[in-house]
Amino acid sequence: MRARISGGLVVNASGPVAADVLIDGEMIVALVDPTSSVADSWSQSVDRVIDATGRLVIPGGIDGHTHMEMPFGGTQSVDSFETGTRAAAWGGTTTIVDFAIQSKGRSLREGLDTWSAKAEGHCAIDYGFHMIVSDVNEQSLREMDLLAGEGVTSFKLFMAYPGVFYSTDGEILRAMQVASASGLMIMMHAENGIAIDVLVAQALERGNSDPRFHGATRPSLLEGEATHRAIQLARLTGAPLYIVHLSAEEALEEVAIARDRGQSVFAETCPQYLFLSAQDMARDGFEGAKYVCSPPLRPEHHQEKLWRGLRTDDLSIVSTDHCPFCLKEQKELGIGDFSKIPNGLPSVEHRVDLIYEGVARGDLSLARWVEVTSTTPARMFGLYPRKGVIAPGSDADIVIYDPASPHTISAASHHMNVDYSAYEGMTMTGGVQTVLSRGQVVIDGGTYLGRSGHGRFLSRGQSSYLR
Ligand code: URP
Ligand code: ZN
Ligand code: ZN
Repeated sequence: MRARISGGLVVNASGPVAADVLIDGEMIVALVDPTSSVADSWSQSVDRVIDATGRLVIPGGIDGHTHMEMPFGGTQSVDSFETGTRAAAWGGTTTIVDFAIQSKGRSLREGLDTWSAKAEGHCAIDYGFHMIVSDVNEQSLREMDLLAGEGVTSFKLFMAYPGVFYSTDGEILRAMQVASASGLMIMMHAENGIAIDVLVAQALERGNSDPRFHGATRPSLLEGEATHRAIQLARLTGAPLYIVHLSAEEALEEVAIARDRGQSVFAETCPQYLFLSAQDMARDGFEGAKYVCSPPLRPEHHQEKLWRGLRTDDLSIVSTDHCPFCLKEQKELGIGDFSKIPNGLPSVEHRVDLIYEGVARGDLSLARWVEVTSTTPARMFGLYPRKGVIAPGSDADIVIYDPASPHTISAASHHMNVDYSAYEGMTMTGGVQTVLSRGQVVIDGGTYLGRSGHGRFLSRGQSSYLR
């Protein structure tokens, strides 16, 4: 298909420019002045002109942190790669990077093969994988290079969840040495899981079993402490470090100090930490369970610090950590014991809209919105300039965004396969009008035109931020 997107304001991370976008097949071939003769002559031979007058034309969103079909706490996150990527497309996200998991006692290879089989042929949009390393040993350390050769260049380790995903400081050090030598990114779940498990056991002994105690037993100090420790280990080894789902002021301070020192430390936050708070976890009855994720939602004053971090680039990316569990039968596993509530929130569909609220409120520029939701994830995870920018030669992953399209988020109308919305009743200022994934229109003014299996596996290169 040859197409022209005409009349819109193209917003890249470099800033906005009035331009028409010319697409041939799966790729963008040119940005042209709408009044130029090139634009005119191209129009004679296109299959479709997409009118973007009064709209923003932005690179498709890249969600660098999702968990489709993720086993957790005796159940599994309810979005499949099919339903989750379809919902992502509805919300203007055209690439996800999900987490394949190494099970204890198994190889990284097996983990990657398992996740590839779940995703292949089912995704509506392009996808890649990070690898969760839950068993650091000589074999898995050797395999890191092998996987990098297959386009999996980032590896998540956990300082939380002892007995499940947890790695000791020594194991983290070993993985970081490999990452440093091979130019791989270490991603870190930075919470002190050993101390947290003691606090959880003490809370339950006292009979404190409601969802809100999930937050009380995972204090922000222990996120700050783990973030500090991860940064020092990265400093020692020279490994680049990416802190996932940063939620707390204390952790942000550690990241800022490291960055000021010139260390290759990066961090993402997530919409839930920018818009929701510990008060949501303390809602009446068992409703708070809807908001149980780790790190937990924090007291409201942290939000302002996180928005500031987004402006100053101490927070480089907003990802969702989309990990949906239904209230019925899944979150309910934790009735009477908050530690059994599966951890995670649904939001892959709403990230682009939610962060646009930052633009609408004057906290972020248009260019910064695009940068934190698309361009920096592309650069961070070795996808740039194929993804994350509207430029000749890039994939035609494009969102036509209406900056004034008020709509209210609700489980009754969302497309994620989950029985509640964490953002129920919130009104968004802007909304997605049209979405193209590699030149194919997948969302067109409220109609889904995509298909599962359209999305391809993305073999990722090294992060653009490596030195
Ligand atoms: O609560 C969360 N974040 N669930 C997903 C797993 C993780 O640690 O990212
Ligand atoms: Zn995590
Ligand atoms: Zn996660």
